[in-house]
Amino acid sequence: MAKINNIHLKNFRNFSAYKLSFDKKLNIFFGKNGCGKTNILEGISLIAKGRGIRNSNISNLIKKNENNFLIKNNLEIQNNNYDLEIFTENKIDKFKKVIKINDDLSKDSLEFLYQSVSFLTFTPEMERLFQSSPSYRRNFLDRLIFSGRNDYNRLINKYKKCLIERNKIIQNNSIDNDWLNHIEKEICTIGLEIHNLRCSQLNNINNNINILKKDHKFQFELELKIKDDFLKNDITFEKYQSILKDSRIHDKQYGGTKIGPHRSDILAIINKDFEAIILSTGQQKTVVLMILLAQCNYLVNNIYISPILLLDEIGSHLDLHNRELLLDMINRFEIQFFLTGTDKNLFSFVSTNAQYYNITS
Ligand SMILES: Nc1ncnc2c1ncn2[C@@H]1O[C@H](COP(=O)(O)OP(=O)(O)OP(=O)(O)O)[C@@H](O)[C@H]1O
Ligand SMILES: [Mg+2]
Repeated sequence: MAKINNIHLKNFRNFSAYKLSFDKKLNIFFGKNGCGKTNILEGISLIAKGRGIRNSNISNLIKKNENNFLIKNNLEIQNNNYDLEIFTENKIDKFKKVIKINDDLSKDSLEFLYQSVSFLTFTPEMERLFQSSPSYRRNFLDRLIFSGRNDYNRLINKYKKCLIERNKIIQNNSIDNDWLNHIEKEICTIGLEIHNLRCSQLNNINNNINILKKDHKFQFELELKIKDDFLKNDITFEKYQSILKDSRIHDKQYGGTKIGPHRSDILAIINKDFEAIILSTGQQKTVVLMILLAQCNYLVNNIYISPILLLDEIGSHLDLHNRELLLDMINRFEIQFFLTGTDKNLFSFVSTNAQYYNITS
């Protein structure tokens, strides 16, 4: 299990110097709008690979008029303590996140950290998950996969690079056929891998919701599926490759590749009857909480990963059912939670022993 013992933010976002220690499993940040609650979650999320929960440009994380930020953490992984330092390196106006673990910058240490720490997040935008764009939903799903396999983003990045390369080649008047065939082969291999991982991730969630149904009365039935007119059950590598080849002229005019997992969407069927797009924002929050609960169950009980939950603005808009969902998540697992809301009273229903932090920057 991974647990964050403390965080010290220096010149990070709106904080000059701010230190918090975490002794309990449930930590609640409250305070007025703009006091820095989401910024603290963002600071915590930078422990993982990538640019954190806002996916912000690294340079925006530095406090205005300062040159660098420093985030210090003490982290507990399987009963051992590690001191982390997160800061940026500026190379030719390009900012890069750097993590030092016990003063060590080696790749092995970083790999160990990435393997040991996993985050699951809720952000207020997710209340409109099924009304936002397919790319938002794909990203949501990809983050869930990433929480269980930290090498997944490499696959996504490689796939994106191959698509860019294919587009470059087909725009060129003198096409290098061998190179194009090779790239398309890569696209099919990686594309199918991504598609299969997404399908199995959604299956895991569906299965875990069914398991949880035995002792949690959910408000409605939920089934998640991939929606893609091209990537269907009968898709094979050969078919994928030949359709890609046949669509080169079309894709040249279109300016990109028209088929593949970058065009997929996620469908949520409610009560075997209708799509989640017509749900209210509060009901969409229910769906997201069900997914997060199921994913926690999967990570903890199936692949023995203890995620850290970062739930931003989770306090507002919670009816009785959503409160029960959140409480179930908190009580069921021995993992660390960070919740935010504008008012302490929003969390009065939480019976678990929580630590409250009044955030004043
Ligand atoms: N690089 C930066 N330098 C200085 N201040 C920044 C920087 N980036 C963001 N801020 C400030 O941080 C504050 C926002 O913090 P944050 O989003 O964490 O607030 P919050 O407590 O989550 O508010 P809300 O309740 O509205 O969600 C804003 O006042 C914003 O101007
Ligand atoms: Mg916020």
